[in-house]
Order: sequence, then structure tokens, then C-alpha cells
Amino acid sequence: MTTNARRTAVTLLGLGEMGAAIAAAFMDGGHPVTVWNRTPEKADALVAKGVRRAGTVRDAVAAGSLVVVSVKGNDTARELLESAGDALDGRDVLNLTDGTSAEARAVAEWAKERGTGYLHGQIMTIAPGIGHPEAVVFYGGDRAVHDRYRPELALLGGRGSLVGDDAGVPALYGMAVHGTMWGTLNGFLHAAALLESAGIETRRFLDQAGPSMSALVSFLPSIADEVDRGEHAVEYGALQHHLPSLEDLVRESRARGIDAEFPRYTLELVAGAVAEGHAEDSYSRLIEHFRKG
Ligand SMILES: NC(=O)c1ccc[n+]([C@@H]2O[C@H](COP(=O)([O-])OP(=O)(O)OC[C@H]3O[C@@H](n4cnc5c(N)ncnc54)[C@H](OP(=O)(O)O)[C@@H]3O)[C@@H](O)[C@H]2O)c1
Repeated sequence: MTTNARRTAVTLLGLGEMGAAIAAAFMDGGHPVTVWNRTPEKADALVAKGVRRAGTVRDAVAAGSLVVVSVKGNDTARELLESAGDALDGRDVLNLTDGTSAEARAVAEWAKERGTGYLHGQIMTIAPGIGHPEAVVFYGGDRAVHDRYRPELALLGGRGSLVGDDAGVPALYGMAVHGTMWGTLNGFLHAAALLESAGIETRRFLDQAGPSMSALVSFLPSIADEVDRGEHAVEYGALQHHLPSLEDLVRESRARGIDAEFPRYTLELVAGAVAEGHAEDSYSRLIEHFRKG
């Protein structure tokens, strides 16, 4: 199972864009790597560099101590692992397949029932970023598995961290980052359309308004504390003071013929909270809207 005490034999199930990058990272890190992919030819380039191709999932799993899975969907991940049968005994699984938290947890529970060590990982980079010192991977599951393979995990990204013993939490962390990113990007692109309608280049705006833009992130810790504590009292910047600026943004967007839906939605949230008696509260009070589902 290992060539020597320091080099864990790694098996990779799934050689899509991400799986191929992961296999290459382990190979470049000096590990013996065995791969299996539904479409075997996808392993050709890696095999030419010294990776071993297995003909079946079972043979691939038998060759490794650490079985890494990177496929499309956690049902598929689990089916592949199940198909290995008793070849999986004594191995540990690192599942890097995306999905919902419940889907990740279901694979973890299956692994636990059969006595297999299990770690789920949420990769926060695109495939070319694998192995980069700044690449983030959130891990959840068996702490012992995480700790046993620290050097191997470090090959995937320099900023990996165990975020809990619940295998579903990494997916939630990933969604929280992406959700924040999409909200921010939508706001920024709406701003770009607004500026463009006045003949202003987005880059020029960013260079000149950069300090106000980067200050936005500095609000997050206090918003997080308010949400966690359920306390929304604030001395400055109460919700009601957001209303005039939001109304101006909606009117300006309409006047310029650009889509006003994004600021209109925000205006509706803020106006609703103010109408419910939260005019003097922090913006964090809007958490109650998002909690309702
Ligand atoms: N690509 C990225 O930059 C990136 C970034 C972060 C996370 N991820 C995650 O990494 C995982 C893999 O993504 P990817 O980009 O590598 O996807 P991909 O390029 O589309 O490859 C999908 C992989 O899943 C395999 N597969 C799909 N259905 C299968 C089935 N029924 N049975 C067996 N194998 C099956 C494919 O096999 P075939 O080759 O035979 O089709 C292939 O190996 C996903 O969960 C994805 O969300 C990817």
C-alpha cells in the first residue's frame, strides 16, 4: 500500500478537470498515484508521466491508503466507493465532490457505518489553482483522518483547514463564500452599468473609489457579531438612513434605463424592516428576512 513510510499511496477516482489536477499534485509531491476514470483515456497524459491506471474501481482502491474521489455528484461518489467492496477496508476516503451538505453527510454516514475513515473537502479554487499556497480547501469529518494526512492535504492548497467534524459543513462554508461573492458581484455590475450609462469606465471608478470599496469588508465582523448575538442596536448608520440613498439609486437607475431590480429588492427589504419598527437598528436586522425562507 505504500512504497515507504513517508509516501502515502494515493488512489484517485475521477479524472475530470479537477481530478486530473489533484492527481498531478500528488504525483508531483512524490506519492505513488493510481487512478481510475469512467472514460479511461482521460488518464493517458498522467500515465505517460508515471501515474498507474487501474482497470476497475476495486483495483484502484486496493492500491491506495488514501482514496480520493472527485466526480460529478455525491450519489456517484458513493456508488463508486460501494463498488470497491471490501477493497475499501483499512483505507481512508477524502471526498472532494461538490453537492449539498446533506449529500456530503450521507456519504460520510455510509462510510462511518462500514468503519471507513472519512473526510469531505470543499475546494475553493479552480483546477489550475490546486497546489497554490493561497488555495483554500475547507475540510469536515474525521479529525483523525485530517491529522493523519496533513502533508498530503497541504499538496492541494496552502490554506486548507478543518472546519468541523460534520462532513456537511465544508459545503456550507463554500456556499457562504460563493453567496457573498455573487451578491457583491451583482452589486458591482449594477454599479458598472450605472457608470457606463454616464460614459465612465468601471476601472477609472475603481481606481478613484477604491478606499471606499475596500472599507466595505471592514463592516463584516461587526455585522457577524450582531447576527450571532441577536443584538441589532446601533449608534450610527441605522436602517432608516439607508432609505434615501436606496431610493435615489432606484430613481437614478430607472432614469438611465438600466435594470433597477437589484436596488429595488434591497429598498424593499430595508423599507419593510423600517415599517416593522426597526428604523433605528443596524443593517444586520435584515437577517430576520433571510431566516424566514
Ligand atoms: N473544475 C473546477 O475548477 C472545480 C472547482 C471546484 C470544485 N470542483 C468540483 O470537483 C468535482 C469534479 O469536477 P470537474 O470539474 O473535474 O468535473 P468534470 O471535468 O465535468 O468531470 C466530471 C468527472 O466525474 C466523472 N463522472 C461523472 N458522472 C459519472 C458517473 N456516473 N460514473 C463515474 N464517473 C462519473 C467524469 O467521468 P468521465 O470522464 O468518464 O466523464 C469525470 O471524471 C465536482 O464536484 C466539481 O464541482 C471543480
